[in-house]
This record gives sequence, C-alpha cells and structure tokens, in this order.
Amino acid sequence: MPVITCIDDLKTLYRRRVPRMFYDYCETGSWSEQTFRENTSDFDDLHFRQRVAVDMTNRTTASRMIGQDVAMPVALAPVGLTGMQHADGEIRAARAAERFGVPFTLSTLSICSIEDVAEYTSKPFWFQVYTLKDDDFMERLMDRARKAGCSAIVITLDLQVQGQRHKDLKNGLSAPPKLTPSSIANMATKVSWGLGMLGTKRRTFGNVVGHAKGVTDPASLSSWTAEAFDHALDWARVKELMEMWGGKVILKGIMDPEDAKRAADLGADAIVVSNHGGRQLDGALSSIRALPGIIEAVGDRVEVLFDSGIRSGQDILKALALGAKGVMIGRSWVYGLGAMGEAGVTKSLDILHKELDTTMALCGHRDINQVDRDILLVPEDFTGRWA
Ligand SMILES: Cc1cc2nc3c(=O)[nH]c(=O)nc-3n(C[C@H](O)[C@H](O)[C@H](O)COP(=O)(O)O)c2cc1C
Repeated sequence: MPVITCIDDLKTLYRRRVPRMFYDYCETGSWSEQTFRENTSDFDDLHFRQRVAVDMTNRTTASRMIGQDVAMPVALAPVGLTGMQHADGEIRAARAAERFGVPFTLSTLSICSIEDVAEYTSKPFWFQVYTLKDDDFMERLMDRARKAGCSAIVITLDLQVQGQRHKDLKNGLSAPPKLTPSSIANMATKVSWGLGMLGTKRRTFGNVVGHAKGVTDPASLSSWTAEAFDHALDWARVKELMEMWGGKVILKGIMDPEDAKRAADLGADAIVVSNHGGRQLDGALSSIRALPGIIEAVGDRVEVLFDSGIRSGQDILKALALGAKGVMIGRSWVYGLGAMGEAGVTKSLDILHKELDTTMALCGHRDINQVDRDILLVPEDFTGRWA
C-alpha cells in the first residue's frame, strides 16, 4: 500500500481503481475547462503571513455551520453518481462524514436513495435538490427528505441547463455503465471496484427510478432528465421551493454579488459561492476570486459558504480568511471514496483537517473562528478590475 500524505495521492489511487468513465466524469470541467483549472490555480495567488513565537497550544477547528456543531467548518458537497465511484458510495461517505463530525450532502442524482442513507446513518444529513419542473415529484422528494430527518436542503441554482463535458459524451457515461467492448475491457482491470458492484443492488439513480412518473428503469431515466430540469427557474420559484421545504435552506451556485443580495433578501440560511467545480459556466471567474465581492455585499446578512477548487487544508484556511463561514468539498472526498471506499473518505478528511490545523497554527492562531483576513497577503488586484 503506498504512503498517502495528501489529497493528490488519493487521486492517483482513485484513477487506478475506478473505471475510466467515472474518473473522467469527476475529473473534468465544462468545455475548455478554464474555470475548472483556475478554481485550483487561483488559490496560489494568495499567500499566508508566517507568524512566530505565538502560543500554539489547545488549538481548535470546531465551529458551526447553519447552527450545527461541526468538527471543522467543512461539509461534503453533493456529488451525483457517487455510488458508481464505489459500491454504495453515498452510504460510505455519509458514514465517514458522520464519524468525523461534518455534514454530508446527498445529491438528488445519487445512486443510494435518501432512505438508504438514512438507514445507515444516525445523524441528520443535508439533501440537495435540483430545481425540477414536476411539482409533484419535488413535493414528494422533499417529503422523503423530511421523513429521513434531513436537517437542511441545498437548492442548486446553477444547473437549469447543463454545461457540456466532452469526455462524458465520448465515454457514453451512464449508470449502470453501458457495456461496450472498450468499457468492458477497462472495467475488467478494476477488480475490487467490479466485485463491489456485483455485491450491491444499488446501481442506478435511487431517488428517481421508481419515484418519478414514468421512470421505471435506467433507460427511461435519460429522457426524463433531459426534460425534467426547470429552464424557467426564477427567484419566485426559488421562494416557492423554500416555502415547500419550510426548514433550513442553503442556496448553492451564487457567483455574483447581485444574486447574493437576492438570496439574502429571500431569507436563505446560507449561500454557497460556487461555480459547480467548473462544470457549468466555462469562463466564469474562479470561485475564490468571486468570494471577496460577495462577502462585501452580504457577509453581514447571510452565512456565506464556499466551494470549488479546494484540495488542501491551506485552501480551506484561505477561503475562511477571506470571510467564508465554512466550505464544501467535492472532488477531494470523491478521490478518497474511489481510492479506498469509506476509509478513503475518512483519510481525505483527516488529511484536510491536519493541514488546516497546522497551517492555522503557523499563521499564529489557535481557534479557527478567530481567523480573519489578517493572516493573508492578498494581491491588490486579486478580485480583478473588470470593465
Ligand atoms: C462528479 C461531480 C458531480 C457533481 N454533482 C453535483 C450534484 O449532483 N449536485 C450539485 O449541486 N452539485 C454537484 N457537483 C458540484 C459539487 O457539489 C461542488 O460544487 C463542486 O464539486 C466543488 O468543486 P470541487 O470539486 O473543486 O471541490 C458535482 C461535482 C462533481 C465533481
């Protein structure tokens, strides 16, 4: 077993162990992938101020996100199809998150259903909803989430229409995977993945198949998804969905201060500054460059969370220092899951936590809640001067 010291090591293992189609699905952005690349590389423009001779004993990363206690201010972002990255992937990840003491968010387009995840966990998780046209389906979905004890819904606002990822089209991405000579040849080399998949009954979209009208099998699902997303989504509809849920709501996919103000006006409990990990609007600013403007606009009115591009504890600390109250991680936990299942998700959380804690200490802080912009050296034009 190789020595794993960072998230990138997990990614290397993940690449080896999971079929190409699913690795590509995760490790790609839309079109030219400019935003996908800049989401990570723009973190390098921010530097830390090294402080010395500061008492570094009794450190804590414990904090709160939407009023919930967390071991560190990091939640697992909703990621579709994770039950294809590893058998029963969503259950595995939710269990790892629960044990660590951070929130897990289940995607609408998960393989394991809401009920499956609830059965194998004991604490409430968050549930992500896409904005779909079918009101009946939305009501039932929210009802299922309520019955499963979900403590918040995350409404994703940046996927009314879908950005194109070339590799998914070329690979013929599907769940379960289509059997073609090349996919069979590739899967045959992923032995532990294959054995896991043979040992589970969960191999297609558990929240949809058998629940959405007319979707009784994976074949009818693809025509449903093409039709289901609500292209007409507007703020009035967002309000309707918030009322339909009636509990805590996080609005995800906000990249513009004007949109952040609208979300705050609606009374969202939190917003997530996110460009969907560079999978939607290619050419959008990286999330980390968008963050300061949004903090300035609404930081005192609504809890601002952040995602897109986090691959280390240093990245987490930079986002917190710029004013985010917490972050979500996407690929960083998926790499762990694909590499080593539940233990891999725990490993990725351990790595991030250790990096976060040590870096915070080296910046002269003991309490994550006290960290502010003072620990950073930010280039004057970091957020850009755009005409
Ligand atoms: C493979 C993959 C699938 C995703 N599926 C969803 C999804 O179903 N719902 C959603 O709101 N966001 C989805 N996202 C976006 C993540 O929630 C998150 O915004 C993004 O991964 C953050 O960027 P990062 O991967 O660089 O951390 C997905 C991201 C990836 C990588």
